[in-house]
Amino acid sequence: SKPWTVPALAEAKRNGQKLVMLTAYDAGFARAFDANGVDLILIGDSLGMVVQGHDSTLPVSVADIVYHTTAVARVLQRSLLVADLPFGADATPERALDASVKLLQAGAEMVKLEGAGFKLDIIRHLVEREIPVCSHLGLTPQSVLRLGGYRVQGRGDAAQQLVDDAKAVAEAGASLLVLECVPTPIAGRVTAEISIPTIGIGAGPECDGQVLVLHDFLGLDSGHRRPKFVKDFLAEGGSVAGAVRAFADAVRDGTFPDAEHAYAS
Ligand code: KIV
Ligand code: NA
Repeated sequence: SKPWTVPALAEAKRNGQKLVMLTAYDAGFARAFDANGVDLILIGDSLGMVVQGHDSTLPVSVADIVYHTTAVARVLQRSLLVADLPFGADATPERALDASVKLLQAGAEMVKLEGAGFKLDIIRHLVEREIPVCSHLGLTPQSVLRLGGYRVQGRGDAAQQLVDDAKAVAEAGASLLVLECVPTPIAGRVTAEISIPTIGIGAGPECDGQVLVLHDFLGLDSGHRRPKFVKDFLAEGGSVAGAVRAFADAVRDGTFPDAEHAYAS
């Protein structure tokens, strides 16, 4: 069996071992990541934007995630495979269970879903049925219509709500928590106050691990304004394998993200 399992994540946090995560959508990149020290691979619904060319993640279907999960799962020998529940697939417990079963049968080992609130019941519903869950708080891209855009979350009065939500998703049974676009001190507070590992993207260096979207990590122009936290590791590493090793080293030694790639407040 693979070295990265769900219990191994909690153990990594207890040991202060940083977690290295990247998104991938195909076997070629997944193999390069798996072979060069990436601990977790995410089939992100970001594929709606970076692969399919949409301007949000909302059009992505469960079948789309299943297709990419299947391709990536075939080649992994080491990394734990997490797959996103796309928009609408976690709207009810029944839909979430049905979609999650499809993702696990395609080779995912954990499903990720955005938000707290009514999603706490969804998390419990899945975890009780032996489906490991990763939560995603802060900037939740599936909320783009309500938010009116992609911007930093958890500032000011919203900080306490974010901390409360993080505790609630952990209490509901989530095994991992992605924090996206959150001020460094708030992500640090969440990381200190919950026992499950946090994975940051635009959430500062105090998280238990870091994730980047493949295309951002390779320095590709997304056609959108480049967020502050994005860093071109291909420029630094010189090859895909070199980029992965540069990213993994920087996450593990705490040099990524630096202040330039994080939100101080
Ligand atoms: O879809 C995705 O790629 C994600 C990451 C940004 C965490 O959810
Ligand atoms: Na996502």
